[in-house]
Amino acid sequence: MVSTRAILILSSTTLIIVAVYINIHVIQRHDRKRYSGVGFHYQDGNSLLRILQQSVSSSSGRLSITSYSDPRTASIQVEEFDESDQSRVKDLEEKVPLLNAFLEELEGKIQSFSNKVGSSIKEETKQKEDRAALHKEEDRKVSKETQDEDAKSLTGYNILLLYADDWSHHTLSSFHKNATTKPILQTPMLDALAEDGIRFTHNCVTTSVCWVSRATLFTGQYMSRHNTTEPCCWSGMEKPRGGMKDAPSNWKELSVYELLAKHGYYVGHAGKWGVYMPWPKNVAFSREEDGWHYRQMGDKVWHITEKNEADALRFLVTRPRHRPFFLNVAFYATHAVDHDSRQYLPQNKSMSMYVGDVVPIPATGTDEAWKKMPYFFDEKNEGRQRWRKRFQNNMLHQSMMKNYYRMASEVDSACGAILEELRRQDALDNTFIIFTTDNGNFHSEHGLADKWYPHEESIRVPLIIRDPRMKEETRGTTNDAFTLNVDLAPTILGAAGIPSPEMFMGRDISQLYLTRSAYHTWRKEFFYEHPPSKPDPHTIPASEALVRKDYKYMYWPNYEYEQLFDLVKDPGELDDIFNSTDPDVVSVRNDMKKRFSELKKLVKSNERVTL
Ligand SMILES: *[C@@H]1O[C@H](CO)[C@@H](O)[C@H](O)[C@H]1NC(C)=O
Ligand SMILES: *[C@@H]1O[C@H](CO)[C@@H](O)[C@H](O)[C@H]1NC(C)=O
Ligand SMILES: *[C@@H]1O[C@H](CO)[C@@H](O)[C@H](O)[C@H]1NC(C)=O
Ligand SMILES: *[C@@H]1O[C@H](CO)[C@@H](O)[C@H](O)[C@H]1NC(C)=O
Repeated sequence: MVSTRAILILSSTTLIIVAVYINIHVIQRHDRKRYSGVGFHYQDGNSLLRILQQSVSSSSGRLSITSYSDPRTASIQVEEFDESDQSRVKDLEEKVPLLNAFLEELEGKIQSFSNKVGSSIKEETKQKEDRAALHKEEDRKVSKETQDEDAKSLTGYNILLLYADDWSHHTLSSFHKNATTKPILQTPMLDALAEDGIRFTHNCVTTSVCWVSRATLFTGQYMSRHNTTEPCCWSGMEKPRGGMKDAPSNWKELSVYELLAKHGYYVGHAGKWGVYMPWPKNVAFSREEDGWHYRQMGDKVWHITEKNEADALRFLVTRPRHRPFFLNVAFYATHAVDHDSRQYLPQNKSMSMYVGDVVPIPATGTDEAWKKMPYFFDEKNEGRQRWRKRFQNNMLHQSMMKNYYRMASEVDSACGAILEELRRQDALDNTFIIFTTDNGNFHSEHGLADKWYPHEESIRVPLIIRDPRMKEETRGTTNDAFTLNVDLAPTILGAAGIPSPEMFMGRDISQLYLTRSAYHTWRKEFFYEHPPSKPDPHTIPASEALVRKDYKYMYWPNYEYEQLFDLVKDPGELDDIFNSTDPDVVSVRNDMKKRFSELKKLVKSNERVTL
């Protein structure tokens, strides 16, 4: 039984490989004219193709197609060859119709073969189908009334989410556009995307850690609602539902992926999931990569960003063109490899970047700032431990930051290649594009590294949106409204024309650039929450906050410790004025504590709220 199943899988995998192979060579003949409006261009057109090709077959340079009937003997072989060899390219192109016919035949044969396989597989399939039918029926029940209405509002836009990891808000050269000195970091592709779209300068996350923030992206809810407070199953394992007792019962019905698939989207995910999915992932395309920077696959040593890019391109090349797609390219960069003392491992080709530069030490990257942290921040604090690995002296600081920047520039150029492929497919102007990340990072500020806490470095992250609906005058602008990661789900569904479930807690960000008045009624403050590390909250104490532009109130529940910062006078969040007797400060403090309690109560309730 196992072997027949293996053959089935092998055959369908082969089909896909052949299809991609054909695609690559058809693409190669395409005229690679530049998209002049935006200026996305991939420096070396051929290497894009090569990367894609390698990700399909990294081994022998020969593709072997094993036919259905007898895997040991019946096979045809396609040899790989130099792409500059025009006669061979032409030769292959002539074979495309033949190969297509072969594919069709193969498909038919796989079909009839699968009809013949043993009864247990049939039975299993039948059970699966029954279950699927049951789910379908359930889905139908849930959405029957709304579905017909929904269909009318669907925009048909593709949705591309470029989702980086551990990426600070200032890790974009466009962020430093107005600075007097030229920024060291270069992100030309993302800058071009921002030039053609809108950049949100005060975008924040409601919890600064990957799995919680991702769960928020998937479900449109705060951590207190989606309940994913513990890390679990990093590398794609499915965990039985019973294994996670607080796994929320309503994840499936709220999942953006599910909702898009249900409305006809071809849904894909390339990269890090980073969160436990309490149900089988309903994605047509999924390549999970997480937790490594370099890995040998076949003959090639892959860098994870290269792999993320290749997988994204493979999705775009092989997707059915008659359906809109949703793709999350969930890069692992610039996440450090925690257990490796080198932390950040960029690609060799990037090592010549930033060599002669001197990365400035942040204003709050001082011992004095570290000493101003609350008394429970000591050398055991996880942020402090990681600071020792990365920033405890200038030499280390320089090499870590340069490697971090190199990894960021690599993501930037991967984004360029992905956008270039969209342009090549003539799909750029029919695609809603977001660039953002799961959380920010301390780069020595407050004597810390990494994330978790409610300080600006940790919670403020980049957000760029390029929207086909945008007016010309909006493009290239910035917006300083408090947009949040909890807004991503309603924004994505909004772009598709799918109404958000009532339990979503955020807002559709497009209001901010599609309607003039939205900015004035937009939120001016938000609640922040982060769970404690377990079992010992001492290494990562839980934190909560009320964040406004002028003041920030922080609460550390494990120590019942409160802080207040005046962000106008003290943007570095160094001087805690919570105990001030100044009547103005006392009044602000009382007001913020009151509002903090109200928002916290709402977030932790089951009420339907838009925050
Ligand atoms: C940058 O400078 C431009 C032109 O002077 C100005 O319009 C814009 O508001 C500035 N942006 C920021 C974020 O300061
Ligand atoms: C989240 O967990 C809490 C307590 O553990 C529970 O009361 C609540 O029902 C859970 N929420 C969901 C949506 O499952
Ligand atoms: C990168 O360069 C180092 C040092 O030259 C070499 O040992 C390593 O194999 C290279 N890695 C890759 C993936 O090429
Ligand atoms: C404010 O007062 C509390 C209670 O006395 C104390 O624990 C805390 O350390 C004080 N904060 C500062 C910044 O002095």
